[in-house]
Amino acid sequence: MIEIKEKYSLKELNTFGLEVYAGLFAYTENQEGIIDFLKRGFHKKHSLLILGKGSNILFTGDFKGIVLQPAIQGIKIVGENDKTVIVEAGAGVNWDDFVQWCVSNRLGGVENLSYIPGSTGSAPIQNIGAYGAEAADVIEKVSVIDIESLEIKSLTNSECRFGYRDSIFKRELKNRVIITGVSFRLFKKPVFNTGYGNLKEVTEMMGEINLENIRKAVISIRRSKLPEPSDLGNAGSFFKNPVLPNTFVDKLRGSYKDMPVFRINNKSSKVPAGWLIEKCGWKGKRYGNAGVHDKQALVLVNHGNATGSDIYGLALRIKKSVSEKFGIDIEPEVVII
Ligand code: EPU
Repeated sequence: MIEIKEKYSLKELNTFGLEVYAGLFAYTENQEGIIDFLKRGFHKKHSLLILGKGSNILFTGDFKGIVLQPAIQGIKIVGENDKTVIVEAGAGVNWDDFVQWCVSNRLGGVENLSYIPGSTGSAPIQNIGAYGAEAADVIEKVSVIDIESLEIKSLTNSECRFGYRDSIFKRELKNRVIITGVSFRLFKKPVFNTGYGNLKEVTEMMGEINLENIRKAVISIRRSKLPEPSDLGNAGSFFKNPVLPNTFVDKLRGSYKDMPVFRINNKSSKVPAGWLIEKCGWKGKRYGNAGVHDKQALVLVNHGNATGSDIYGLALRIKKSVSEKFGIDIEPEVVII
């Protein structure tokens, strides 16, 4: 039977390191625990928050309802053909342990996503992405439990309706299902994807281009730009990169010739929010105990003892100044509670 704890500290369960509490808290490493939790109906009496590893969340205060951390473990091969292998990982598997497992087993597809904090079960929710790759490129299916009917089912890749940092789990299925596991289709003979930024050069510095060296290069680039949550509380990119019409972007580029632009298609482009925020003068700035990282302006940090409201207040100021300077509305990537 699943154990329910009262007034539970979430300090170790959010990478901003904020001192906040859950009214009630439940943890389980198996599917039966989740079913038991749902059968006992806690989610009907209290508002429910399903938490992975807390690496993409900002608590602006205590969470009065019930937090469920479904931490199903295990990685196993469940299918195979000449070219690919299907690997299933429990929702609670640490994402980077999963990437390490794939690289060690010479399976390609997730190496560019090395060192992203969080759990495997959270990967499909915001379709984690980095260095030219996205979880959606390799997700075969996502296993879930329906919160109302307790039915166990799975969604195919297209049913997940993946987009840039987006999926059905952030929309129609928000608070309707609990993800228990994710299956990935990985490649026995990987096609290396080193086209993003300086990834190719950094990989070559590690030796030949292979899965191990791409992983090493990604880890080294991430470490040079992104703070370790254990040193400086943060949740990675705080905002999404805005997707804008090409006509608007081209006009803006008339005034800002150095603005990096990633063309998506003949209608829209992505502009790095980090660049916009830096141009507004925020990089390395502090606002009380909350701050903007000095090596990557897209990352907000807790310099120690910041409250969630301090960080949220800073985020609102940044959003306002980007809107005033560029006429662009940037949206948070992190979930704000
Ligand atoms: N840039 C600046 N100033 C900054 C930050 C970035 O000018 O302070 C410029 C860079 O010079 C570069 C461009 O913006 O030309 C892109 O920067 P970077 O490669 O660091 O990537 P990003 O767009 O800022 C995205 C993801 C990251 C991911 C990196 C690498 C989003 C919201 N973020 O950041 O993901 O690691 O690309 O692929 O899409 C995360 O989601 O938490 C995350 C860290």
